[in-house]
Amino acid sequence: MVFEHESVFSYNITRAYPFRWFTPVVLVGFLVTTVLFSFLNFASNGYDLIVETSSNPNQTISEGIWFKNWPSYLTSKAKPSCQPADIHVNTLLFTNQTALTYTLTDVWRVSAGGGNRTVLPSLTYYNNRIENCAVSSVEVDLEALDRAANQLAYAEWGAVVRAYISCTIEGAEGQTRFNLTTTYDYVPQSASLSGLYQFLATNFLDRDKQKKSSLYWGESLMSMYWAYMTKTMQDIRQNATDNNEAGIRKGTISFTPNNSSTSDITRLDYFKVDYRFMIDDGLGDFSILWPGLYNWTNSVAYLDRISAKPNIWIQADSLAKSAYSTILTDLGQISSTPNILTDDDTLQYFTSNFSIAMVNKANAEPGPATQDFDTLKATTGPLGVTPSVISTNYICQIPKLKSGGNLFVSVLVADLVFLQALWKIFTLVTDWLLFRKHPNANQCHGCAENSSRHGPLTSSLGKNSRVHVDSIHVRNAQRCFVVLL
Ligand SMILES: *[C@@H]1O[C@H](CO)[C@@H](O)[C@H](O)[C@H]1NC(C)=O
Ligand SMILES: *[C@@H]1O[C@H](CO)[C@@H](O)[C@H](O)[C@H]1NC(C)=O
Ligand SMILES: *[C@@H]1O[C@H](CO)[C@@H](O)[C@H](O)[C@H]1NC(C)=O
Ligand SMILES: *[C@@H]1O[C@H](CO)[C@@H](O)[C@H](O)[C@H]1NC(C)=O
Ligand SMILES: *[C@@H]1O[C@H](CO)[C@@H](O)[C@H](O)[C@H]1NC(C)=O
Ligand SMILES: *[C@@H]1O[C@H](CO)[C@@H](O)[C@H](O)[C@H]1NC(C)=O
Ligand SMILES: *[C@@H]1O[C@H](CO)[C@@H](O)[C@H](O)[C@H]1NC(C)=O
Ligand SMILES: *[C@@H]1O[C@H](CO)[C@@H](O)[C@H](O)[C@H]1NC(C)=O
Ligand SMILES: *[C@@H]1O[C@H](CO)[C@@H](O)[C@H](O)[C@H]1NC(C)=O
Ligand SMILES: *[C@@H]1O[C@H](CO)[C@@H](O)[C@H](O)[C@H]1NC(C)=O
Repeated sequence: MVFEHESVFSYNITRAYPFRWFTPVVLVGFLVTTVLFSFLNFASNGYDLIVETSSNPNQTISEGIWFKNWPSYLTSKAKPSCQPADIHVNTLLFTNQTALTYTLTDVWRVSAGGGNRTVLPSLTYYNNRIENCAVSSVEVDLEALDRAANQLAYAEWGAVVRAYISCTIEGAEGQTRFNLTTTYDYVPQSASLSGLYQFLATNFLDRDKQKKSSLYWGESLMSMYWAYMTKTMQDIRQNATDNNEAGIRKGTISFTPNNSSTSDITRLDYFKVDYRFMIDDGLGDFSILWPGLYNWTNSVAYLDRISAKPNIWIQADSLAKSAYSTILTDLGQISSTPNILTDDDTLQYFTSNFSIAMVNKANAEPGPATQDFDTLKATTGPLGVTPSVISTNYICQIPKLKSGGNLFVSVLVADLVFLQALWKIFTLVTDWLLFRKHPNANQCHGCAENSSRHGPLTSSLGKNSRVHVDSIHVRNAQRCFVVLL
């Protein structure tokens, strides 16, 4: 039969596959691949990534969905990820122990070969443990009338403890070293006068008697020796005034670890000391107290023995050791560095004078613990150090399941695309197999019969002839359509 009109578009002539296995394979394959594709498409298209902030990226990432360990080319849209935080030089920071606040002063990296150091503008930080911290010095600055009036209401003398620390983190790009400084002033300039005669709870962000017992005692030690030492300075000033002597105006004491000393922090040679005190002789004259006056000593024990002026050496040394131990605890340094706050006996040694200190304080009330360790042991948790990380917020991308309708459409569309592609490949392969065996299987039924007798149809019709066919099998096309739906 010859049609009268020829459209620009044309259709294919189809024939049923002459294979017995074809239909069952297609049906079973359809079911299996639909389930498989739906599964994969659910993993790769079923989630949207939304931006959230997290303070613990390691946990955020580990809390991801169940197929998070699949290869990333399948699940890249369903994998939680977090960006490292950039902590710039001069930023204030604190650790997850929430005790003291530190300033980042220097960040650098030393190349593997021990070459020159590279100074970095910021610390690229990804919740890394703080490691290898060393407190290089603890300094105590003392001042009296130069302080603000609200501070003088608490104590005539005030002290600012400053510590210099150097630490390491082990990041993705290797070791990065950084310096921190921290300052501690129990009565800071911001202290409100309304806190008079009360425990001030300054400098420490938080305290927990049970869970962070070591830091609780660290805070108690620091505030206690602060109050004791400043009151002693006050007594020394009063004595000087009574004896018509020129008084000390201000001073600074520096403690650095004595490398050759034993690791016993209770010993007075644990720190080496250096200091400068200015005596206001009046009429603009100043004289200086310094180690040069006493045989250039830097031994706390010697200064204490000769009662070198001003005789606050033991209290200042204990304050420095308290700050030193508190900092190492706050930075989570579990290493063997001596630490008052990890050993019961050492802590008892340094708190045993709390009763003396409590009667030698001005209006600043130290705390939170005001009795020695043995007395309060039962009420506080066990001493100990846990690892620390810097507290900061990370920007994370978290997968969130799409809404029902959205999920259905995206999985359906992706499934259709996959099934169609698979069908195409499958039929191409089957066709190839078929034509290899039966070269004229792509001719229509009738032509095939005639050509098997007369040779290929095309050769008898010529190259540009069009073949009109009257029996068209659309069965395969229909089946394909059904399969896709
Ligand atoms: C601080 O973080 C580290 C590392 O995640 C953890 O081991 C430690 O217990 C945390 N400390 C506190 C007090 O939360
Ligand atoms: C360190 O810097 C100096 C001066 O810039 C240079 O001469 C030297 O080669 C550098 N050393 C290394 C190991 O890069
Ligand atoms: C968090 O993960 C990063 C990268 O895997 C790792 O360097 C860091 O040590 C982890 N932090 C903790 C506290 O486990
Ligand atoms: C950082 O600390 C190290 C070791 O204490 C010191 O040598 C270095 O000068 C410090 N850097 C700054 C900028 O203070
Ligand atoms: C007071 O000053 C005198 C004379 O300088 C001295 O002998 C005495 O020990 C001082 N007392 C105190 C408590 O500092
Ligand atoms: C003390 O020891 C530290 C590390 O152990 C070292 O960096 C420092 O240079 C030493 N200081 C002195 C004065 O020996
Ligand atoms: C440092 O420690 C050694 C050994 O204990 C001691 O002999 C020395 O006097 C100490 N130095 C100071 C300044 O305390
Ligand atoms: C300095 O040392 C010498 C001898 O060791 C001693 O006789 C003298 O009293 C000391 N001077 C002071 C001010 O301590
Ligand atoms: C405690 O007081 C006694 C007596 O005043 C003193 O000998 C000792 O050094 C003090 N201990 C501390 C840690 O301050
Ligand atoms: C096939 O050949 C038969 C007899 O040779 C003929 O009747 C029939 O029309 C042919 N069919 C076609 C499509 O040419």
